[in-house]
Amino acid sequence: MKKPGSDLQFKDIQGLAIRGFGRLPYAGYLCFGIAEKPLFRRWLKGLLERGEIASGKVHNTELGDSNRGIAFTAAGLQTLMESAWLETSFPVEFTEGMVQPQRSRLLGDIDWNAPKAWRWGVQDDIHGVLMCFAQQRAEVEQMLDDALQASNGLREVTRIYAQLPEDGKEPFGFADGISQPVIEGTYRDQALVSKRERQLHAIAAGEFILGYPDGSGQLPRSPACSPAMPGSDRLAPHCLRPELRDFGRNGSFLVIRQLAQDVEAFKAYVEAHSREGLDVGEKMLGRTREGDSLTRDTSAQGVNDFDYLEDRKGQGCPIGAHVRRSNPRSTVHDRSDEAALKVSNRHRILRRGRVYENADGEVGLLFLCLNASISRQFEFIQASWSNDPFFQGLAGEVDPISGTARGNAGVFTIPASPYRHKLQSVPQWVTLKGGAYFFLPGMQALCALAE
Ligand code: HEM
Repeated sequence: MKKPGSDLQFKDIQGLAIRGFGRLPYAGYLCFGIAEKPLFRRWLKGLLERGEIASGKVHNTELGDSNRGIAFTAAGLQTLMESAWLETSFPVEFTEGMVQPQRSRLLGDIDWNAPKAWRWGVQDDIHGVLMCFAQQRAEVEQMLDDALQASNGLREVTRIYAQLPEDGKEPFGFADGISQPVIEGTYRDQALVSKRERQLHAIAAGEFILGYPDGSGQLPRSPACSPAMPGSDRLAPHCLRPELRDFGRNGSFLVIRQLAQDVEAFKAYVEAHSREGLDVGEKMLGRTREGDSLTRDTSAQGVNDFDYLEDRKGQGCPIGAHVRRSNPRSTVHDRSDEAALKVSNRHRILRRGRVYENADGEVGLLFLCLNASISRQFEFIQASWSNDPFFQGLAGEVDPISGTARGNAGVFTIPASPYRHKLQSVPQWVTLKGGAYFFLPGMQALCALAE
């Protein structure tokens, strides 16, 4: 039987949507404005013609020494698409952007996380982000400098360098990059070994890439453009409105959030509150520092082959732990394991973040994720799982890593027998420094933008 997703048009999907470029440890992210449209278009066309933005077709081993990805904000697409831009065909969270006041409240971007304190992303001056990946930091710097030559028509708004840590651990000291959804129809999907692993992690391509059925069997909403747009003849007719062109096909929505981590305070708190047999750092994160599950011994099955059904009360992995709130697996309701998993798997994200360190010593996670629906996936996780004080029977606590505590803040419950532990006055160690929503177009849509 033909598998859903096996028709993935890898050649038309940007490489970043298929893989995280683990072989290219250094990255530079340039948030830019478009200063001169004709120059920008010529530059973009050059990148595409020289194959400098690799598609998802290029295998990891053939990646070469560097690669790029490019994505645009609503303001950037509006600028480039001009009268062909159909605002109403893009989702409202994308056109309004991350800093719309109601959205800030929803995401918990308030108080010290509020946009007024951000370094970037508040003004409407970002049109896109160029993401460069290479073997060495110096190469990445050169790639960004080259892009910024006046003849390319770009204006720098901000740049952030980040990398994959050598020991695979994010700044708080925990192994990262373990649990990812596996896009059905990709080579990683073929590599899943057990039926359980497939049930847990193989996700319909349309949850991440537009143009394919999603977890409900429907095609995700795809932005359209007017056929009047130069170059749009290379795009397929829109599936719902064939008189328009399907601009979104093979694209994905990209979320970027710069999350500064106060490592010293985190480690001091963990040391002060842990004791023999109880590491509160691991309990708050929900995995061991080496990435093993707290729910059960996964050494035989692989670190991601487990479900919290085996640990309903959270005596292994607390219910409020970061990884459990971010992906509660089959525990979202009691109807049946399968039905519950289906529900929670409609809120998965492809994480593509890396670790950064500023010149002034600030460290943190440059969080990036891809999804077909920012509101149903990223925003749902942040608002309805991480920030929900009443998540799965808890009361008055939020995700201790990525949530924003309000009111009766800073509580974290560690279920245990015979008595649970309740941590009080848990500080916040993560501060949001900037962020924005982007669209990562397919390769043909990029070619159309370059016309
Ligand atoms: C500085 C902030 C953050 C830190 C230090 C952090 C750290 C981690 C670590 C160490 C893991 C476990 C390793 C893994 O499964 O890859 C993890 C998993 C995860 N995180 Fe975060 N994270 C942060 C922010 C976020 C945010 C903002 C979100 C989304 C709103 C998020 C969503 C997830 C998800 C979905 C998983 C995988 C859960 C699973 O499938 O089991 N994280 N994070």
